[in-house]
Amino acid sequence: MASPLLTFLTGRAGGRGVETVVPQRTFADVILPPTTRRTLDEALAQVRNHALIFTRWGLGERHTTGLGLAFNFAGLPGTGKTICAEAIAHELGMKLLVVNYAEVESMWMGETPKNIVAAFRSATEQRAVLFFDEADAIATRRSAGPVVSYDRESNTVVNVLLRELEAFNGVVIFATNLASNFDPAFERRIRTHVRFEMPGIDEREKIWKVQIHPSRTPLARDVDFRALAERFEISGGDIKNAVLKAATAAAAEPLPDREKRIHQSHLERAVAEVLAAKDVMRQSLFDQKPKFVAPNVAVFIASAALIFAIAALVIVLLR
Ligand SMILES: Nc1ncnc2c1ncn2[C@@H]1O[C@H](COP(=O)(O)OP(=O)(O)OP(=O)(O)O)[C@@H](O)[C@H]1O
Ligand SMILES: [Mg+2]
Repeated sequence: MASPLLTFLTGRAGGRGVETVVPQRTFADVILPPTTRRTLDEALAQVRNHALIFTRWGLGERHTTGLGLAFNFAGLPGTGKTICAEAIAHELGMKLLVVNYAEVESMWMGETPKNIVAAFRSATEQRAVLFFDEADAIATRRSAGPVVSYDRESNTVVNVLLRELEAFNGVVIFATNLASNFDPAFERRIRTHVRFEMPGIDEREKIWKVQIHPSRTPLARDVDFRALAERFEISGGDIKNAVLKAATAAAAEPLPDREKRIHQSHLERAVAEVLAAKDVMRQSLFDQKPKFVAPNVAVFIASAALIFAIAALVIVLLR
């Protein structure tokens, strides 16, 4: 059986938690407000100069720790943090090692520090940009007072992360939401915070346009992206979901394929659905009451099978 560490690194645990991607999306696919774009460009310049200073100018041999570059991408969901991490890796000609921190922590309780070390090692070996997605959980947890065991693990995680960051000579990106508070020691290791703002009208209009294929997506004449951008103050992620929903609805119309078109009404209805789905999510997040958890049938059957197998073994041994 594969070790948890190996499974973690190869991402074979149902593909959850960690994966290495060869970046496909580039900055041509991303539309950002000017301030976000500027900060990102500065971050990229730092990465490029870093290679110049520490490799070509030899300073990496004189200074062997604290050479890594850590960035925090902070912003609301769907504002383009993941796509930009991919675009940065693409720009640098590197792979992207994506660690979904929230999933890893919940899946590998007790193994998290070990897995963090493994992720840094793997990023070094693959020369990949290391991307800790949904890293909010790392940000707030280290506590100084008396600790319970869960806190103790969180403290260890942050300490291990700090140590690994100190030793790592590559690029690490954390993605968090805007409310995250970093531990001061951790904060010192973050070179730049890039704030991902919600797109304004002009950006939204362009995001609507990049979400469709420039020549192959059949749009009806009444489609007006400017009007959609003015009317709906939504994130790029919502726009993407709305485009896919509208396309699905248009494709389901009872017409021959060559007559099918995405109309403005498809797009408007799709936005309404996306917004309604978000409302449901919000309610289910905040209205959660303790529920009776039904016993898991699979666990029950497995236990019965185990007891049966042990009984059979005992009978065989006694004979
Ligand atoms: N600024 C943008 N320009 C173009 N497309 C965007 C932009 N923002 C989001 N999108 C679209 O929405 C999708 C989701 O965005 P992305 O996953 O990068 O958001 P995120 O900030 O990482 O969200 P989350 O916090 O939920 O992880 C992208 O794949 C892309 O298609
Ligand atoms: Mg993301």
